[in-house]
Amino acid sequence: MPDLIIACLSQKGGVGKSTLARLIARTYAVAGWSVKICDFNTTQLTSYKWAKLREQNQIEPHIAAEPYTSPTALKRETANLVVADGRPDSDQSSMEIARMADLIVVPTGLPLDDLEPQLMFANELVAKGIPKEKILFVLNKTTESRTAVLEARQYLTSATGFLVAEQDISAKTSYQRAQNHGYALSEVGQNIGTLEEKADLLAAEIVARANELGETV
Ligand SMILES: Nc1ncnc2c1ncn2[C@@H]1O[C@H](COP(=O)(O)OP(=O)(O)OP(=O)(O)O)[C@@H](O)[C@H]1O
Ligand SMILES: [Mg+2]
Repeated sequence: MPDLIIACLSQKGGVGKSTLARLIARTYAVAGWSVKICDFNTTQLTSYKWAKLREQNQIEPHIAAEPYTSPTALKRETANLVVADGRPDSDQSSMEIARMADLIVVPTGLPLDDLEPQLMFANELVAKGIPKEKILFVLNKTTESRTAVLEARQYLTSATGFLVAEQDISAKTSYQRAQNHGYALSEVGQNIGTLEEKADLLAAEIVARANELGETV
């Protein structure tokens, strides 16, 4: 059984589940944890293919990934950390993954078109018995408008009590290109250090949240 299961889930597609799954996996792997990404999006296998590319390009630390269909099998994994990279839906499988996870990361873009289904999804998880405090929203693909970020944050938190990570992640070609080559958001390269720093700050928040939840068990 893993020490920790973190799931990246969402109703909406293309919001950054695989992107955050890879960032989280890399962060723990660098800290010496054995890590496996369980890739539930078996039509795309984004994280699985990325891990292969990472291996081909001999990028350290090594990150294991595997296509995955059975949420219950997560418990049988032996890695210290299992990161479940979900597929876009709110079907039974996502609910089961959520039930097994210690922390659920829900990425979202800023448009209401993203926020609305993502909030609905989180509410559905809570309605099915997932404790609200296990859910952490992450604002991804943000643009230069701080007002837009603030509005999205307010939409998700006001009158809901959901948590949103302090650090948002901008939409950047450098992030995209890093992932194209097997790197995580926190490995974009020295010359664009602030992007790395922001990814690291978000990752640190996610780790801190996972630790807090671990302490309250
Ligand atoms: N901050 C970012 N900056 C630039 N590109 C990004 C960023 N986050 C994600 N992307 C890109 O957006 C696309 C969707 O991201 P990702 O694959 O992580 O989403 P997803 O939620 O896993 O999608 P799906 O629902 O299809 O599994 C990818 O091409 C990814 O490289
Ligand atoms: Mg994906």
